[in-house]
Amino acid sequence: MKVLVIGGGAREHAIAWKLSQSDKVKEIHIAPGNAGTSSIANNLPIRPTDIEALADAALARGIDLTVVGPETSLALGIVDLFQSRGIPVFGPTREATLIESSKAFAKGLMKKYGIPCAQSETFSSFEEARDYVKSQPAPIVVKADGLAAGKGSIVAQSREEALEALSEIMEERVFGSAGDRVVIEECLSGREASFLVFTDGRAVVPMVPACDYKRIFDGDQGLNTGGMGGYSPPGFFNEELTKTVMHAIMEPAVRAMAEEGKQYKGVLYAGLMLTDDGPKALEFNARFGDPENQVMMPRLKSDLVDIMLAVIDGTLDRVKVEWSEEASVGVVMASGGYPGSYKTGFPITGLDEIHEDILVFHAGTREEQGRICTDGGRVLTVVAMGETIARARERVYLNLPLIHFEGCHYRKDIAAE
Ligand code: AMP
Ligand code: GLY
Repeated sequence: MKVLVIGGGAREHAIAWKLSQSDKVKEIHIAPGNAGTSSIANNLPIRPTDIEALADAALARGIDLTVVGPETSLALGIVDLFQSRGIPVFGPTREATLIESSKAFAKGLMKKYGIPCAQSETFSSFEEARDYVKSQPAPIVVKADGLAAGKGSIVAQSREEALEALSEIMEERVFGSAGDRVVIEECLSGREASFLVFTDGRAVVPMVPACDYKRIFDGDQGLNTGGMGGYSPPGFFNEELTKTVMHAIMEPAVRAMAEEGKQYKGVLYAGLMLTDDGPKALEFNARFGDPENQVMMPRLKSDLVDIMLAVIDGTLDRVKVEWSEEASVGVVMASGGYPGSYKTGFPITGLDEIHEDILVFHAGTREEQGRICTDGGRVLTVVAMGETIARARERVYLNLPLIHFEGCHYRKDIAAE
């Protein structure tokens, strides 16, 4: 088979890496990929948002399976376009992607179908939203309705801060049309976890749970990022909790989408808050997680191609999805200054000095005169496996100092508890 992966981050490198282990895969293309993917795939210089060009490229190369990484491509309708051109593609349609691309839609769905979530109200008028915020106790969560590269949710510690966030979203329009509507939500507390499933619209198959770290500095300090590390499985996430989440959140969500005439196929990701009242959904995503996927793919024992084809064909109930008992820990190496401004083009050294069993998934990297250089904020996700989280953690932190580039920064507390 010839497969095409859309995206250029470490999440997509991990997808391509896993696909490359399938006996069925003869050729992998990735658009746009990075310096790491070029050793297992053919990098195509096409942006994930240029969905027409991607469809042309897929047709020209006789692609048998396309896997979409980023939500931006999904929200643009890449799956609908590929389907209309007869190119097999893994992921939800544009309408089904609403579960991620509109928080107002997702909240409406959760309320209508009794999926546990934070109390909330949706507003398209700034004045009404402002009055509502003024009536609520702090902390208050303010969310832009649309896609905002993971930056659209603000957990405000005071009413003033909530009003400021509201004004930025609805008046200054810092997220553009994503701020046409806002969701204002009660603040939940508890432990957070990421829970993903494969679904063909009927069968819903759980993946292993994972946790990610969003803040730039140790102890969850500093600005939000695209993710600074992750691990799987979280010790606090037992079989029983998995069952509860499947019955209360994931299965109802998939059924609800079908009932709404938006059959959901692909990966469905729930960001969970494990509250004293049980697990609640903070959000849904229509795709694999980043950096969760970098610690999940190495634990997947089954052939990812078999799973994806079954999702497309609607035969997921016939596929066995098996996971390794081993734990995994992934740490993101970022450019100095990220998530603020940073420089790129620094050579990365030590990639050939690390232990053989360490996985390095590239994100912001490019090849320059035969050398691998930095090319983005998040540069690499370095992953180790082990019998326990502690062993995996030990291994990853033993190897991280061997890799270097000017200004590199990584958190020292990933999977520390
Ligand atoms: P979201 O974009 O909805 O995933 O939110 C991003 C982050 O904001 C989550 O990972 C949580 O840490 C936090 N968050 C979102 N909604 C809530 C909420 N209702 N209560 C507390 N924290 C939240
Ligand atoms: N790790 C958060 C996300 O993928 O949205």
